[in-house]
Amino acid sequence: MSKPPVTVAVTGAAGAICYSLLFRIAAGDMLGADQPVRLKLLEITPALQALEGVVMELDDCAFDLVESIDIGDDPNAIFDGANLALLVGARPRTKGMERGDLLEANGAIFTAQGKALNDHAADDIRVLVTGNPANTNALIAQRNAPDIPAERFNALTRLDHNRAIAQVANKAGVPVSAVTNMTIWGNHSATQYPDIFNAKVNGEPAFDAIGKDLEWVESYFLPTVQKRGAAIIEARGASSAASAANATLEHARDWLLGTPGGNWTSAAIPTTGAYGIEPGVISSFPVTEAGGEASIVEGLEINEFSRARIDASVAELREEAEAVKQLGLI
Ligand code: NAD
Ligand code: LMR
Repeated sequence: MSKPPVTVAVTGAAGAICYSLLFRIAAGDMLGADQPVRLKLLEITPALQALEGVVMELDDCAFDLVESIDIGDDPNAIFDGANLALLVGARPRTKGMERGDLLEANGAIFTAQGKALNDHAADDIRVLVTGNPANTNALIAQRNAPDIPAERFNALTRLDHNRAIAQVANKAGVPVSAVTNMTIWGNHSATQYPDIFNAKVNGEPAFDAIGKDLEWVESYFLPTVQKRGAAIIEARGASSAASAANATLEHARDWLLGTPGGNWTSAAIPTTGAYGIEPGVISSFPVTEAGGEASIVEGLEINEFSRARIDASVAELREEAEAVKQLGLI
């Protein structure tokens, strides 16, 4: 007998990320090849016609896991009964902008969506924000959904995590599968801190595997990962889409189905006081996950080099939180 369907709500469904994401969800890459899904897709009114075209293409794939597809421009209707909400819809930055520059333009989207989730989503709702600035948008949604447990709101730093793994693998001359225990700390912004000191290559310290090359860490690894989004915008003329879709899918998959044994991943989750980072923002941490719950990996050594950079990124998150407070969004 087939499993009961999971209702997945996705926003920004006619946009670039969703043009990759929706087809992979429908194919079973996120929740498994035996898990039927109901797709509920949100767009703004002017994009509904384009979304109808995307739905025609989904239909034309005849995915046997897709039980139904609903589209609309009303978050109250689209989030009704949702078990998982992937909040992708927001304006992307263009050349020369920082992600934080989008706060005012995109922040308001997340007040309305937080309220709609609060009032209509299923009791087991999990919410993942990809739309930028992702951490603070997730905070806005969370604060506008007081009836949903705070930890159900995550923001995406899995793309940064995957980018960091790829850079270390390349430098160490190993396949990406050899790189484990990577962590992104802080904000999905140019201040994020990819932590090579706790990462491993074939089970050994990654820093050793890259020849203890601190110069490479400081002048190549950190800026490359921190500014990868901008480099893609410069090269492609548009922000990352397929890799962002892949990361969104991997985050949701690991959150609901579990991180593979022995390894951890990076996810931006509400701060708890762990690693001296006080409650009040949504920051990236090393986490293990199972059944929709995330646990921060405790006890990692944070050297001086790391501490200063983690603190700077968290300070930026606190500034963003203060800015959206001033805007009346939280
Ligand atoms: P896009 O412009 O191609 O698509 C965004 C879609 O969102 C558009 O179709 C738009 O109509 C829709 N939208 C806008 N407001 C909406 C609302 N209130 N409700 C529902 N839909 C709405 O952009 P994209 O390339 O798909 O990127 C989407 C967002 O994801 C951007 O903010 C981008 O910066 C961000 N992003 C985040 C990461 C990350 O790692 N966190 C990575 C890549 C992109
Ligand atoms: C990314 O990291 O690729 C996205 O957040 C898009 C951007 O604006 O950098």
